Amino acid sequence: MKNIVILISGRGSNMEAIVRACASEGWNARIAAVVSNRPDAAGLAFAKGHGIAATVVDHKAFEDRLAFDAELANVIESFAPDVVVLAGFMRILSPAFVTRFERRMVNIHPSLLPSFTGLHTHRRAIEAGCKLAGTTVHFVTAQLDHGPIIAQAVVPVLPRDTEDTLAARVLSREHVIYPRAVRWLVEGLLREENGVITHAAGETQLLV
Ligand code: GAR
Repeated sequence: MKNIVILISGRGSNMEAIVRACASEGWNARIAAVVSNRPDAAGLAFAKGHGIAATVVDHKAFEDRLAFDAELANVIESFAPDVVVLAGFMRILSPAFVTRFERRMVNIHPSLLPSFTGLHTHRRAIEAGCKLAGTTVHFVTAQLDHGPIIAQAVVPVLPRDTEDTLAARVLSREHVIYPRAVRWLVEGLLREENGVITHAAGETQLLV
């Protein structure tokens, strides 16, 4: 049985999708803990309500990023994680932290990487006149919003879209591809060659 630790900062809807998929699809894994850097993260209540250990490591209580990252790593390690899932975790992680969980840690970013790293991805896609937008699940590397791509989902950008309508369309796809990608990782089905990730049985890594 593999241990999954999920890191959140807020709403936690991707965390919820992964918790539900793990239970309903009978993964050979359990959500060992949900860890938030914010005490007021709404997702903590869902985790507690589902009997999952819900822990806060408040970044404001630490002098600097390295001290926060060191404590966060210790808390995560205490749950013996096989997989660490960043689900709307809005802190930049130090290279030492990333190295510690290399190829065990994944992130979801609300754009078609490598386009639109960073914040306000939907607004920037609309302003750029993009006709397609989407979301990317990737392994976490020291470079922010980079790292080998595991899965992507694409959605249209419609003429009257606002940041909110586009975000909602993308989020609904996130809830499909993120559980799928985490399951592949748990089941050891991902292969890497020259920084390119493929699925061992050739399952499609693109949701259109
Ligand atoms: C998601 O849209 C996720 O892609 C994004 O934050 C949202 C979290 O929603 N992540 C990032 O922007 C990371 N760079 P959730 O808390 O409901 O899962």
